[in-house]
Parts: sequence; C-alpha cells; structure tokens
Amino acid sequence: CVISIQSDEKSDCAICALDLISASLRIYIIILNKYSTFLLNLQLHLAKIKKIYYNNKYRNIYERTYIMSRILVTGGTGFIGSHTCVELLKNNFEIVVMDNLSNSKRAAVDRIEKISGKKITFYKTDMCDYDGVTQIFKENSIDAVVHFAGLKAVGESVKMPLEYYTNNIHGTLVLLRVMRENGCKRIVFSSSATVYGMNNVAPYTEDMPTSATNPYGYTKVMIEQILKDCCVADAEMSVVALRYFNPIGAHKSGLIGEDPNGIPNNLVPYIAQVAAGKLEQLSVYGNDYDTPDGTGVRDYIHVEDLASGHVCAIDYAMKNKGFEAVNLGTGKGSSVLEVVAAYEKACGKPINKRIAPRRSGDIATCFADASKAKKLFGWEAKADIDEMCADSWNFTKLNPNGIN
Ligand code: WQD
Repeated sequence: CVISIQSDEKSDCAICALDLISASLRIYIIILNKYSTFLLNLQLHLAKIKKIYYNNKYRNIYERTYIMSRILVTGGTGFIGSHTCVELLKNNFEIVVMDNLSNSKRAAVDRIEKISGKKITFYKTDMCDYDGVTQIFKENSIDAVVHFAGLKAVGESVKMPLEYYTNNIHGTLVLLRVMRENGCKRIVFSSSATVYGMNNVAPYTEDMPTSATNPYGYTKVMIEQILKDCCVADAEMSVVALRYFNPIGAHKSGLIGEDPNGIPNNLVPYIAQVAAGKLEQLSVYGNDYDTPDGTGVRDYIHVEDLASGHVCAIDYAMKNKGFEAVNLGTGKGSSVLEVVAAYEKACGKPINKRIAPRRSGDIATCFADASKAKKLFGWEAKADIDEMCADSWNFTKLNPNGIN
C-alpha cells in the first residue's frame, strides 16, 4: 500500500491510517499464527491417525513377525523352484532368483513374471561361485533362502559322483558360508524321500534313519546332516528340510511345468512325451514287485501342492529356530499302471507301453506319512492323480518343445 504525506492535517490522518493498518496487520499476524498453529496441530493429529491406521493395516502381518520378507530362491527357474516362486509372489514375498541354468531356461523367469504379474530379480549365478553368491547378498537384503539348486538324476549321479558331490555339497557349503557372513539364518532345503533308502518300510516317517543307495541320495543325506550341525553350532539358525516324494503336474496356466533336458528319467515326463508323440514307447520297469498290480508304487504329489508346502515352511522357519525334517507327500501310493491309466484319461489316447526288466536301484513301494506337515504347518496335499496328470498333459500340449 502506498501513502503520500502532503500537510500536517493530512499527516495526522496518515499517521492514524498507518496506526490502523499496523493494528490490523498485527491482528492478521495473530490470526495467522493461531491458524498456522492450528494447521500444525491438525497435521500432527492426522499423522497420528495415519500411524494408527498403518499399524492396524499391517498389524496382522507384524503378528506374523515379519513383513514383505525377501527370499532368495536358488534353482528358482527349475520345475519345483519356478512353481514355488509363483506361490511366494502370490503370498506377497519379494523374491530374488539365482540359477546357473544348467538344467532350466531363462524363459522360466518371464513365465513366472507373467503368471504373478510381478517383476523378479534374477541372477545367472552358480552356487559354487563364492563371489557371485556374495554379490547377491550384498545387493539384496535376504531374509531367508529356499534352496533348490542341485543336480538330481539318480542314474547320472552313479556315473558322475565327483560332479554330484562337488556341485551339491560344495555348492551348499558356499551358500551357507555366505549366508552366515551376511547374517541370514533361515533356510528351507529341498531334500528328498530318497533319504529313506532301502531299509525303511513305507509309510515313511521323519524319525526313521536316513541312508542312500546312490551319490545323489547321499548328497541329500549329507546336506541334511550339515544343516543339523549348523543348527547345533548356532541356536539362532532355522532350517526346514522338506523331503519330497514324487512331484508331478504343472501350473494350471500351463505356462510352467516339468521340462527336463534330454530323455526323461522319471515316469510322468516320459509318459507325457509318449503321449505327445515325441517318444515311441514307455518301458514299465518290472511288474513282479510285491504290489497290488506288480508295478512300482510311489507317492505322487502335485507340484502346486509342493509349492504351497514351501510357503508354509518359510512361514514356519521365520517363527521358529532349529532343524526340522518334514515329508511333503499325499500319504497315498499309486502304481505305474495306475498312473498310465490316469494319463490315458487325461490325454484321451492309449499310451504305448511294454513290460521291461526292473530298473536297478528301484524299490517296490515308497509313500509318505504326511501327518507331521499337517501338525506343524497345517498343510496337506489336495490334488489327486487325475488332476496331476490333467495338468501335466495341459502343460505338455501347450509347450510341445518345452519352455523356450
Ligand atoms: C517312478 C516309478 C519306476 C520311469 C526319483 C528319484 C527321487 C526323486 C523322484 C528327486 C518307479 C517307474 C519310471 C520309466 C517306469 N527325485 N518307471 N518307467 O525313481 O520313484 O524317484 O524321482 O528327489 O530321488 O529317485 O521316480 O519317476 O523315476 O519312477 O516304469 O520310464 O516309475 O520303476 O517304480 P522314483 P521315477
């Protein structure tokens, strides 16, 4: 405001006007102060309300003692690994995937992202590479590890024991060292029913003695022992060794499934390739076992049930300490001929087969006592053999040349 002063009388008016203005400005400043204090209090109050809502919103997750944990999945582009990644993402975990792609394809990462609608961090890293594994832990704060990485063909392990012991045992030791150097104390380990060996009688329970009949099986027995010893050395360690029986099937989307390199060793992927016309005939390894129809009986479990079992195991490991071995199976056995019949139903055509001599190292019957997983995790397998074969065939039809 501009005021020009011309005479005394006028100057009195001017002074008076100035007084008036300065008084009103003072009142204005007082009002502004009051108003700004009010606004400040309101802001503080709103912040308090927001904090209450925030805590309420995340209270249940805090009650799970962790929030938005980041999980390193080694071997995460493999058959079971990729399905577990999808399940972890569905349960709002963040995941970092590490795989050397020796028995899987990089395209699996894209498939996992497509199914989950979420981006994942991928490292093409070999678990024997100490610097590479260290880099992953330096670049990501890892809360827990799901450890799938490893060679897993029984027959191959008999021919290549050094490669199996170096890769599976040494690789796991590298991983465990890097975990310890970075304060990561929770691991879910991909073990196998193969640790029940030949001397136990089904249904197998976790307290039975473990043994093996081949180098692959011995790597699983030894790694479980290493993990047990780590838990004795560090009471803060939390380990769940999941003993899988026979995982088969595929994700309902048909985007991921069992996609082995070369000629499949296992029954269901072999049947799938016969159904797809890629292989001529299935050899049924022996029909003179002491089983209902003479063929081998196994506990086949849907890979999606297996994946949900891993999420339960992570949850358990986040809340507990110490070592636990847990069977992941259905508790039911199916014979080779029953699986063939289920597959014929799924694909709508007969499976060309012949009865061949027994395969060395095979046992007659293997199935789980699945009660511990139910008691510890509240988990049980849901899918039956028909659903498993239907999902396997759906994946095979949609990916006649595997995941590319
Ligand atoms: C199942 C049944 C065979 C192929 C293996 C590993 C085990 C685990 C699961 C990793 C048996 C019969 C098979 C074929 C057949 N893997 N069969 N013709 O041997 O129970 O277990 O995979 O942890 O460690 O040992 O599974 O699918 O090879 O055999 O008749 O072409 O099918 O004799 O009775 P297995 P499998």
